[in-house]
This record gives sequence, C-alpha cells and structure tokens, in this order.
Amino acid sequence: MAYADAIVECIDLAARFGPEPVFTGLTLVAQPGIVALLGPNGAGKTTLLRILTTLRRPDAGAARVLGFDVVRQQREVRRNIAVVGQFPAVDNVLTGRENLVMTARLAGLGRRSRGRADALLDQFGLTDAAGRAVNGWSGGMRRRLDIAAALVRLVPLLFLDEPTTGMDPESRRRLWDDLRGLAGDDVSVVLTTQYLYEAERLADRVLLLFDGGIAADGSPDQLRRAVGDARVEARDSSGAVIAEIPTDGSASDVRRITDQLGAGVTIDIRRPTLDDAYLSLTATRRGERPGERAQA
Ligand SMILES: Nc1ncnc2c1ncn2[C@@H]1O[C@H](COP(=O)(O)OP(=O)(O)O)[C@@H](O)[C@H]1O
Ligand SMILES: [Mg+2]
Repeated sequence: MAYADAIVECIDLAARFGPEPVFTGLTLVAQPGIVALLGPNGAGKTTLLRILTTLRRPDAGAARVLGFDVVRQQREVRRNIAVVGQFPAVDNVLTGRENLVMTARLAGLGRRSRGRADALLDQFGLTDAAGRAVNGWSGGMRRRLDIAAALVRLVPLLFLDEPTTGMDPESRRRLWDDLRGLAGDDVSVVLTTQYLYEAERLADRVLLLFDGGIAADGSPDQLRRAVGDARVEARDSSGAVIAEIPTDGSASDVRRITDQLGAGVTIDIRRPTLDDAYLSLTATRRGERPGERAQA
C-alpha cells in the first residue's frame, strides 16, 4: 500500500478556458503524505485536481500521478487513486451500509463487499448510523460516507476537492482526524482548501495557488518563515502597541530587545501565521503593500 516515490509531479503544466489561462508553468514534485492545494475561489484548484485525476487534459506540459502519466496512462492512474468531488455522490434514499455495499459491488468486490462496507463504516465512525437512510444524516456524516465510498478499493492516494467547505467546526475536526488516520495507514491525501488554518493544521505540504501560478510552496512552517521573522510586540500600560521589533526568537535576542524597553511595557512574541503569509504573498502579487488589501 505504501508508496515511496513522488505521488504527484507536474512539469510546466498549463490549463486554460478558451483564451483565458487558469494557470501556466506549474512545476512541482510532491512526496507521500497530506498535500494541501490552497487558494481562493477561482485559483484553479479544481482544474488542477481534474487534470491529476484524468478528468481533464492539460493544455500544455505534463503531469504524473504515482509515476503514471495522466494522459498516456489514464487507466493506471484511475486504478490507483480514489476521488471525492466537491458535491456528495452518495444515494440519499439508501442507508449508509447499502450505499457502501453497492459501491463495493460496482467496484467488483463481489462477496467481499459486505465486509469491506462494515470495515469502512467502522473506520469512519458511521456504524451506529449505518442502517438509516442517508437523507436523515448530517452533512458531515454524508461527507464521511462519500469518502468511505471512494475508498472501497484499497488505493495509495486519495484526492478530495474542498472536503470541509461548508462544514461546522466539529465535523471539520472529525474529518481532519479521519484524513490523518488515512495518512497514518500510508494512504496519501491531496486536498484542496480555501482555509489557511486547515492547510496549516492538516497538511505536510502546502501549495498556494494564486494568480495563475504557485505563489508559495513548502511545509506550513517553511511558509511561515518565508513571510519573515517573529516580532516582539511591545505595549504601553494603556495597551497600545508602541513597537514591533523583529527577532530570531532566541532568549538572548529577546533579552537584548526587552533591555531597551521601559518599565511598565508588556510584550508579546508573535510568529507570522500562514494568514500573514497568504496576505503578504497575495498582496505582493497584486502589487500592493501588505495590509493595504481590503478584507476579502
Ligand atoms: N467550465 C468552465 N468554463 C469556463 N471557465 C471556467 C470553467 N471552470 C472554471 N473556469 C474558470 O477557471 C478558473 C479556475 O476555476 P477552478 O479550477 O474551478 O478554481 P477553484 O477550484 O480554485 O475555485 C476560474 O477563473 C474559473 O472562472
Ligand atoms: Mg473548486
């Protein structure tokens, strides 16, 4: 099951709609783990996912998934991945178990279908609800069933398009745990998200899609560091910020800074967040200065 080589490779990949480019010159190599494709609405996340899952052809360049070319080895790609789209694909009239058994049968599992369905219900915490029609389920549970259905075949790579959009915080956390569980079982996950916090908390690798290209790429930590140093934020007794001084975060450097501050001054040490990364990178791309951008 485990796959040791790159799960996704893109070489100068481009997509357009009519004359309008969605992205151009996308080049990347992603190792096994949880990869987040982060970007605002319209950034091209779904388009990239559709290319990687063979649902759409690239307009230029090449992409490989699990080492297979998405155009020339479509069948091999499809056989080795699971895909969950943005909208649920489960049948609302059937029960949860019936949905999974049906999907397993369609996938050719035959007599193993019931066993596989039960294992998935257990894995995704849906056993108690399994006998009830899905139309009575919460959105979060339906989404989990959707993912379970995509995984009736054991595959090393799962693609998810905005799996948590519109979910309440509790369901979102539950889904994160499920996805981490998959990663722990050596199933890699490529997901798209509009939420920085989600990318930061969940992914091993974050690719920020913006303005037709990859605006940033790395671990959540690397992205945060790319945005700049931590800062000592000093406040006077009224709570007003009187200074923001860059620091490497070491005790000696913080001491050097605090030695210059008067009595009654309080400090916070602030590390840049991925939100800061996002705002500063997108502002740079838009030709604005960070902080100048209107609230999205
Ligand atoms: N079927 C389509 N026809 C024309 N333009 C499209 C179509 N689908 C997407 N686009 C355009 O391609 C760009 C990327 O879309 P998409 O990949 O859906 O972005 P995301 O998933 O990040 O929101 C957008 O600017 C969108 O308007
Ligand atoms: Mg989309």
